Amino acid sequence: PIQVKKICCIGAGYVGGPTCAVIALKCPHIQVTIVDLNQQRIDAWNSDELPIYEPGLDEVVKAARGKNLFFSTDVDKGIEEADLIFVSVNTPTKKSGIGAGFAADLKFLQLATRRIAEVAKSSKIVVEKSTVPCRTADAMRTILEANSKPGCSFDILSNPEFLAEGTAIEDLFAPDRVLIGSLQTQQGKDACEALTQVYANWVPRERILTVGLWSSELSKLAANAMLAQRISSVNALSAICEATGANIDEVAYAVGKDTRMGSKFLKASVGFGGSCFQKDILNLVYLSESLHLPEVAKYWRAVVEMNEYQKSRFANKVVDTLFNTITGKKIAILGWAFKKDTGDTRESPAITLANHFLNEKARINIYDPQVSKDQIWLDLTDYGDIPAEPIKPHVTISQSVEEACHNAEAIVVCTEWDEFKKLDWQKIYDNCPRPAFVFDGRLILDRKALTNIGFKVTTIGTGDRL
Ligand code: NAD
Ligand code: UDX
Repeated sequence: PIQVKKICCIGAGYVGGPTCAVIALKCPHIQVTIVDLNQQRIDAWNSDELPIYEPGLDEVVKAARGKNLFFSTDVDKGIEEADLIFVSVNTPTKKSGIGAGFAADLKFLQLATRRIAEVAKSSKIVVEKSTVPCRTADAMRTILEANSKPGCSFDILSNPEFLAEGTAIEDLFAPDRVLIGSLQTQQGKDACEALTQVYANWVPRERILTVGLWSSELSKLAANAMLAQRISSVNALSAICEATGANIDEVAYAVGKDTRMGSKFLKASVGFGGSCFQKDILNLVYLSESLHLPEVAKYWRAVVEMNEYQKSRFANKVVDTLFNTITGKKIAILGWAFKKDTGDTRESPAITLANHFLNEKARINIYDPQVSKDQIWLDLTDYGDIPAEPIKPHVTISQSVEEACHNAEAIVVCTEWDEFKKLDWQKIYDNCPRPAFVFDGRLILDRKALTNIGFKVTTIGTGDRL
């Protein structure tokens, strides 16, 4: 079998960085080089301030960096030296052209693939790590074969990543499964075995699933769509709970006790965020439509629509509760990241809520323990598409919860950071005008205790009755 000695990963982002750092740590005999075009990102990976916040990541990088783990902008050298190349570049939703708003934009993936074909002087195993539409590996193979030099052959594998942000290192150390898709030819199977051996350094063999290429690609979209569907289902039920006095946590607990269902991933919320769920479902919608399966497309689209509904329903609830107007009122937003234990804000529901409140001419005061001021401004201006000047007087970014909540007429919890569970709510209450409103978009607060202090508490998925 082929022995992998040198790995190159193209794309030093949320997936490429942690995944290949863990491979380096677990496989000291393999040299791992992570390359990216973004100089600033690579510099950060080489510094003490890593470009992403992820519990446990610092330790992993420190243990391997400079030994068998390297970060570089020299993409060509990385490609040339490697036996196996992960392509872990971003595949965002297309903003214009055919499939705009739904299809995945594969330009970064294709550029990286083309570069491999141009630079490679020996045979390579090319691994699709990015999340892509079904049959993308076919396009990659065509690009590679059409541009390769004599004597160079390429094997394509699909190896989607299932890590979740905030628990990436845990997930990578002990994955539920590793999925590898390959062509069912002898050559394809040999390449698959080579990658299997890399993971087998720390993942039990029975957790390494080997399947056909197209199943592997589709499984990634399917997993994300079905996970998001659980959240949209529970969020849809949360609206019924609010109208009836049932409690969504009790309902989810009762439902999740069924071993066929399982208790995880049934937490009602202000809506799901993150760079993956919406993008991957829209991708599946587009795929279904391209395959002339409009009913299937409609089914999955509803998962995203329910999520949009949940976000706007919650925002409207804030306005309604504050006597139908928030104009000029100060609203504290606690949490900006799309979930706890990450500084990532892509598709964070907090952004949608903030925009809603700004549209209503409220003044917002934002606090998040891990998101930088610059990032919050990038999100509020949609990376420069919305002018900052008109909203500047209405936005404050605070360094502490106390500062954000001082004099706030409403406090809105958008991210489930652990520190929000342990706040001195009495002190916060003392600094708020009356009536003081709290909106718990994550079901993390002790509603009874806050009500006893004097707060008017609104929680997703619970009626007015306690
Ligand atoms: P990211 O934007 O954080 O990182 C992608 C990196 O690729 C960027 O740093 C970019 O500069 C670099 N890049 C783009 N084109 C390049 C090129 N031609 N050469 C070199 N570098 C290039 O994205 P991410 O969150 O790491 O996601 C990467 C892929 O993994 C996506 O397809 C995503 O859907 C998938 N995925 C993401 C997650 C997640 O939790 N973020 C989980 C599973 C799968
Ligand atoms: C997701 C998948 O879980 C992961 O397997 C895949 O590789 C990438 O996409 P991620 O987006 O990083 O991971 O985080 P995840 O934990 O799935 O949370 C996504 C969103 O759903 C967050 O906004 C989270 O707060 C929300 N969520 C999650 C809920 O609202 N309720 C839940 O019960 C779980």
